[in-house]
Amino acid sequence: MLETPEAVRQWARERQRLGQRIALVPTMGFLHEGHVSLMHEARARAEAVAVSIFVNPTQFGPKEDLTRYPRDLEGDSKKCEAAGVSVIYAPQPATVYPPGYQTYVNVENASKGMDGDRRPGHFRGVATVVTKLLALFRPDVAIFGEKDYQQLQVITALARDLELGVEIVGMPTKREADGLAMSSRNSYLSPGDRQRAVALSKGLFAAQAAAKAGETEVAKLIDLARAPLVAAEIREEYLEVRAVGSLAPLTRLENGVQARMLMAAFLGTTRLIDNLSLP
Ligand code: PAJ
Repeated sequence: MLETPEAVRQWARERQRLGQRIALVPTMGFLHEGHVSLMHEARARAEAVAVSIFVNPTQFGPKEDLTRYPRDLEGDSKKCEAAGVSVIYAPQPATVYPPGYQTYVNVENASKGMDGDRRPGHFRGVATVVTKLLALFRPDVAIFGEKDYQQLQVITALARDLELGVEIVGMPTKREADGLAMSSRNSYLSPGDRQRAVALSKGLFAAQAAAKAGETEVAKLIDLARAPLVAAEIREEYLEVRAVGSLAPLTRLENGVQARMLMAAFLGTTRLIDNLSLP
């Protein structure tokens, strides 16, 4: 396990000397099958696979769950080893943000709306830590999940705009048997809330099925996705349909337009997000 940027640079230099391709999978730990699927993709694309485990303080708001975010470095190490990961980078916050730290990355357009509006400063923190990790490892490829769809757009934009020369790959969302998107934050849910949480994916799949059957009115698709939330008395934060790529808001699924339905909702104090392609 590496804990300092010097150790990472040495590791990466050695991999390059051996002519190995490097894949990076950034995470905040408390790993689940969604994270593991990213590691498997990384293994398929590179000889050397690095996983970073860092609960990044700059992407949490003052009232968010930074201090109670779940951690299990020992269990995570075993999952990484089983997935064929070459090395874990788990730095301390003071290593990543030492006294005097003052440089941040702001991705302008992709950070607007949805999570960007509801979590001020969140994507600035994400973009900053991911840029630092990409600059440190200089990987050939970095793997992210579509589960955090807006985050994936933010990271794709920063890698392109800053000419980091890394391929950004997005992988489909891994789900529990009932459809709930896997998330480290699912561990916060009480048994009752865990059952109710299926309403998020239920709504998304209902909207996707309707779109496949020819429904093009976005307002109707949103009503369909909202119904299970209302029935389960889940507080919706946002529920939107956006164009793939540009994330432009849509009112109608024009012929051939690829769209995405995205939502955030609260179960008690736990905030969950999910999204699905339309049609
Ligand atoms: P974290 O929530 O730990 O997620 C790490 C990566 O796993 C992200 O790319 C995320 O989209 C992906 N992921 C999460 N749940 C998934 C699921 N059910 N199926 C497939 N992939 C899934 O996202 C972050 O950490 C942080 O913001 C980070 C990018 C590491 C920057 O701090």
